[in-house]
Amino acid sequence: MYNYNKILNNNRGEIMSKFKKAVIAYISPGGATKEAALALKDALVSKKIEVSVFEVGRKNSFKRVQDALKEDGVIFFPGSPVYVSKVLPTIKELVSEAKTDKKIPSVPFVTWGCVTSGIALYDAGKALNENGFEIAGALKVPGPHSMMTPSEDALGTGHPDKADKKIIAEFVDKLLLLLESDDYSSKCLTPEDIQYQPEEKKAEMEKGDVYKARANMPQKMVSESLCTTCGICAELCPVEAIEMNPYPVFNDNCISCFNCYKQCPEEAILCDLAPVAERIKQRKKMFDEPEKAAYFINQ
Ligand SMILES: Cc1cc2nc3c(=O)[nH]c(=O)nc-3n(C[C@H](O)[C@H](O)[C@H](O)COP(=O)(O)O)c2cc1C
Ligand code: SF4
Ligand code: SF4
Repeated sequence: MYNYNKILNNNRGEIMSKFKKAVIAYISPGGATKEAALALKDALVSKKIEVSVFEVGRKNSFKRVQDALKEDGVIFFPGSPVYVSKVLPTIKELVSEAKTDKKIPSVPFVTWGCVTSGIALYDAGKALNENGFEIAGALKVPGPHSMMTPSEDALGTGHPDKADKKIIAEFVDKLLLLLESDDYSSKCLTPEDIQYQPEEKKAEMEKGDVYKARANMPQKMVSESLCTTCGICAELCPVEAIEMNPYPVFNDNCISCFNCYKQCPEEAILCDLAPVAERIKQRKKMFDEPEKAAYFINQ
């Protein structure tokens, strides 16, 4: 079913490519995508590529990425967790704002909570192609399921692990080799090349998104007797979905990451994730995706 890791066993050699800089821009409410981003960074730096890493999601976070992408010879790595089988809207907004006519090679990467990586790479790939980027490769990495953490039996606990990071480094080797060749453009991928769900699952996944799913998520309630109005939750929200009035009020930007619930020092945000954990385990049974990092690249 899966067609990953198919690549020639080339010799490594010196990197002669005109691509000497990488721009990694990720959103990572739970930290797994950040870990994947840093593993990518380490692998790129070890190959003498200059790397800039940006966390995106909050106000003005796109501007620095857009500026970095204006430089010559950059490779763009947009990263997102898989939420409801897709990438987060933030990443598509970033790609759309960074629209280019320079055919910048890009590498979408995602972390997924060991249920399904869904159509997230396809979703990101489509946005990238529509906005003038080429898809040089793509990467998916398992991570702890952020709706189940911090529970001991959370799916994906321990990922990305050493083996995942080794696969990431192997991918970077092959990516840089690909970009060395003059005709790398002809070897770039299409969004369909990074779509591996059966047609009916893809159709179902295309209908959903994180905002629509919010109605079926556990509801968050603020306890006014526990809340000290300290504002920490608003500061930590990755997409600025909390307004203080004087207690936290959640707006429509909320992506249901539950960081506010998990990190409130007073436990003043009340919410019950337990029924969701059961639903997630049931949903996992519908998929048989290997729980290890995997990449797509053309030979
Ligand atoms: C609202 C929500 C929806 C999610 N949807 C999926 C999903 O469709 N498939 C999956 O395998 N994991 C899903 N996850 C889990 C995340 O993809 C996974 O935990 C990811 O590693 C989180 O990355 P982060 O730690 O960088 O935030 C979801 C998590 C949340 C909070
Ligand atoms: S972090 Fe907790 S205590 Fe502080 S404002 Fe938010 S809900 Fe209230
Ligand atoms: S309001 Fe809470 S759950 Fe919603 S995005 Fe912000 S931190 Fe995440």
